[in-house]
Amino acid sequence: MVSVKAVSRRFGEQLALDSVSLEVGQGEVFGLLGPNGSGKTTLIRILSGVLLPSSGEATVAGLDVGRRPEAVKAVIGYATQEASVYRDLTVKENLEFRAKLYLESKGVPYAVEQTLQRFGLQPYAHNLAGSLSGGWRQRLAIAQAVVHKPKILFLDEPTTGLDPLSRRILWDLIHEEAKDGTSVLVTTHYMDEAERCGRLALLYEGKIIAQGTPHELEHLAQEQASVAFSQTTLPLDTLRAMPGVLDGWPSGGGVRLILEKGTQLKDLPLQPVYPNLEDVFIVLTKNNAASSALESKEQV
Ligand SMILES: Nc1ncnc2c1ncn2[C@@H]1O[C@H](COP(=O)(O)OP(=O)(O)O)[C@@H](O)[C@H]1O
Ligand SMILES: [Mg+2]
Repeated sequence: MVSVKAVSRRFGEQLALDSVSLEVGQGEVFGLLGPNGSGKTTLIRILSGVLLPSSGEATVAGLDVGRRPEAVKAVIGYATQEASVYRDLTVKENLEFRAKLYLESKGVPYAVEQTLQRFGLQPYAHNLAGSLSGGWRQRLAIAQAVVHKPKILFLDEPTTGLDPLSRRILWDLIHEEAKDGTSVLVTTHYMDEAERCGRLALLYEGKIIAQGTPHELEHLAQEQASVAFSQTTLPLDTLRAMPGVLDGWPSGGGVRLILEKGTQLKDLPLQPVYPNLEDVFIVLTKNNAASSALESKEQV
């Protein structure tokens, strides 16, 4: 449903996306995980027909995003990072406004009613969007992105700034949409949320440094490094300076350490732990930084 082949995008000197390739299938929830500035929004904007790639090709529902941006806009739903709801309209009016952009007027009331129900928004139908809490406003933002039942849904950081319970509820709603056959491409910088994606790509400085199922990525990290817990009171700086220690941070009265494979630390008992996605990100970004440092040395 979404196919991206070697897409790059420059802003002046800066390479915001560097030869990104990925595929999202029907009914799949695909996550794009990366820190701020890694290129997530740039990719979503390209796939929405808002921004042209500098090179490479991308199709959405078989439509080339560079050649047919208007046709692309008609088959997708898009909730932007800055919650795209009108605060001075009611919940229902917001949905009607969006529905009218895509649907013939006789189809609008049914679509709006259906969407209010699906998202549990009926009790707030006549409330101003501006009076909703952050979680409910984001729920409305997703609802209005799907009011016209698009085949493909792009959600740019739909849960940023929300509490864990609201985030959970939104993820359930996202999965409901996918169950109906919608392909979802969702960005996040919360590592725990990545676990909820069918597959994901880790984006770092405009490059995809790994992609696969959460389990595959954890496995990949395990091949490249080991993660361990150590019950120690040694200062973090000391630990981080030890040979073989890639990173470490406080965890439950001790430290969680990312270690080069086979590292033993003198007088420090290590308890191996299975990597989570935050560990994966650290392992892969460290290795990536190390290999690009090597590349730039080779270039000199
Ligand atoms: N319109 C633009 N003009 C210039 N630079 C931009 C523009 N949009 C994004 N960038 C730059 O491209 C990089 C990637 O940005 P973005 O895609 O917004 O990242 P993310 O969504 O992952 O935080 C950033 O360094 C950002 O400053
Ligand atoms: Mg962004």
